Formats: sequence, structure tokens, C-alpha cells
Amino acid sequence: MKKILVLTGGGDCPGLNAVIRAIVKRADHEGDVEVYGSIEAYSGVLRAPQEIIRLTNKTVAGIHVKGGTILGTTTKSDPFNFTITKENGEVETIDRSDEMVHMIKEMGFNCVISIGGDGSQRISKALFDKGMPVVGVPKTIDNDLSATDYTFGFQTAVQEATDAVDKLVSTAESHHRVIILEVMGRSAGWIALHSAIAGGAEICLIPEIPYDIEAVKERIESRYNNGRGFVNIVIAEGAKPKDGSITARKSDEAGYQNLRLGGVAYQLTQQLKNVGCKADIREMVLGHLQRGGSPNAFDRVLATQYGVKAMEMALAGDFGKMVTFKNNEISSVSLEAATEAYNNVDPLSYLVHAAKGIGISFGD
Ligand code: F6P
Repeated sequence: MKKILVLTGGGDCPGLNAVIRAIVKRADHEGDVEVYGSIEAYSGVLRAPQEIIRLTNKTVAGIHVKGGTILGTTTKSDPFNFTITKENGEVETIDRSDEMVHMIKEMGFNCVISIGGDGSQRISKALFDKGMPVVGVPKTIDNDLSATDYTFGFQTAVQEATDAVDKLVSTAESHHRVIILEVMGRSAGWIALHSAIAGGAEICLIPEIPYDIEAVKERIESRYNNGRGFVNIVIAEGAKPKDGSITARKSDEAGYQNLRLGGVAYQLTQQLKNVGCKADIREMVLGHLQRGGSPNAFDRVLATQYGVKAMEMALAGDFGKMVTFKNNEISSVSLEAATEAYNNVDPLSYLVHAAKGIGISFGD
């Protein structure tokens, strides 16, 4: 009898439950395998046994359509930097990685399947180096892992952003306004680029192509000069102007502060006003709507393939690797290769070329 532990770490993402379901079903199909889940990633292991739950076909029935993760998740479960709050309220960071590896072995797990983004994969790699058998499954709406062409959750996030652009186009047109939509993506512009093309925005600002605010203003004015204009702008949260005056990122406190002020969308409005843009501008930050809710069909299918592959690797003892989807094939790469590079939009790619070909300005 083999025992496999599954956990979900980092931010949630549509499709996590579909991966969990596929892992459990594949194990059931194999027979002689028990699957367990750890609540809130590695934190559950450190709080074992009460936060280690048995996952059966019954537990996972129908969960592939649900958003979030039935196991819960956290961005604060790194066993190498585990934060504890002492009785006096002080917060201390300690390394509990050895204890973690020991507990996994003590509980008799043959493998840990860790579903997470680049941060989770880095933790998995470090634990693997300490002797823990692990298989990684990539997850992020940002699609920014270079080892895989697509991460599940991305297509669902793009659909959500596209639906938002569709709605904002009609209100911008009715009021002859400029409407700026800020979307997620960390340091990558994938969600912005796809939703700008799909929704028909006039301007798309992404981290990979720093923009010139005068060029953005000119594009807006050219639309207004050609009659009763309106403009839809999609801006990625990591976008930045050539002069470096915007620094809105959400991963630090300053970034969160910017977000409360409306993030880069709000700052873009200020920049446009500063260079004399007279248009009536509104901003919207789409935020976590992009991450919640049911995964679309593509993400369910991709997540299912990842889950099946991860379980097969776990059973075969093919550890220290992450499942990938490359050139239409489900495969795997070492955790080292999985975490060494990000996947960013190539400004010279056909996708950017096509966007420019239909008149989308990147403000460059
Ligand atoms: O990595 C996924 C993501 O949604 C990014 O697009 C975004 O920058 C970040 O997570 C938001 O994190 P949080 O949920 O902690 O605000």
C-alpha cells in the first residue's frame, strides 16, 4: 500500500480542485494507494495528524467545477521560514524544514504532490534536496512559469478579464469616456494582452513593453479627434512607464497601499492628467474576481491531465520533478529547471504583432 500526500500552496487558482480530483481518481483506478490532503499546504503537516485528511472518491466527487481549493491554501507555510506568534505577540521566523521532512517520513508518505506557483515549487525543490520525495504541479493565473506553455487558471482569468472589457466597452462608448481596466499577472502581461485582444481594447499596457505616457495620450486624442470617441485601456498590474514613475506591485506593503488607491490604473489616470489629457477617465481594478469561481473547460481539462500525470510520477518514483504542458504534450521537468526562469510576453512575438496589427497601442 502506497500513501501519497497532496497539498495546495500559494494563492488560489481555478482548477486546483480538478487536479486534486484527478489525483484521487487515478489512485483509485490504480488500487493499493491511499491519498491524503494536508490542510493549508505545509502548515497542515506541521499540525499533523489533525490537519491531514483522507481523500477518497467520495470526498472529491464533483469538485472539479468548484473554485478555490478544498484543502485551503496559504502563502505563509514555507517550512524554511515558518512564522510563529509567541505568547507576548512577537512574531518569530524559524526553520522547520528538517522537522517537516522527518514528519513526512514518520507518517509513511511515499510522495508529496505539491500544487503551487513558483514559490511553492522552490520550497519543494529545497525539501527534495533534503530527501523528501516530491512531485510538483504548476499553478498560477499569471501563466508566468517558463517550463510550461500554460498553467491552469490562466484561461479562466483571461475569460473573466475579457468579460469585464466587453462590459466596459459599452459603457465607455455610451459616455465617450476613457475606461482603464487593471488586471492581475504579477510581472507578466499575459492576462492583459489576451483580454485586450479578445475584448477589443484600444490600448494595452504590459510590463514587458514600458510605455511612454505621451504616446498613450496621443492614441487617446486620435480616437477623440475622429468623432465622438471612447477608449478602453487594459493595464497589467506590473506595467510601468519608460520614466519609471509607477511602481505599483501588490506583493509588498507599498504595493498594497497603491492598490487601495486604485493601483496602476489610478496612477495612469494621474499621469494622463499631468500631461494635459482632457478626457473623462474612469478606472477599475478587477482584482480577485480573476481568481475565484469555477474553472472553464480548458482549465478543467489541463488540471485533470496534470493530476493524472502527477499521480503516475508519484507511483513510478519519478520525484524532484514538476509536471508540464509543452508543445501540446504533458511531460515533466526537474524542479530546478522549473524554477529557474519566468515566462514573459515577448514584445517581438506574433501575439504582440497581431495586437498591433489590429491597432492596439502599447504606448511604445
Ligand atoms: O500570482 C497570482 C496573483 O493573483 C497575482 O496575479 C497577483 O499579483 C497576486 O497573486 C495577488 O496576491 P494576493 O491574493 O496575495 O493579493
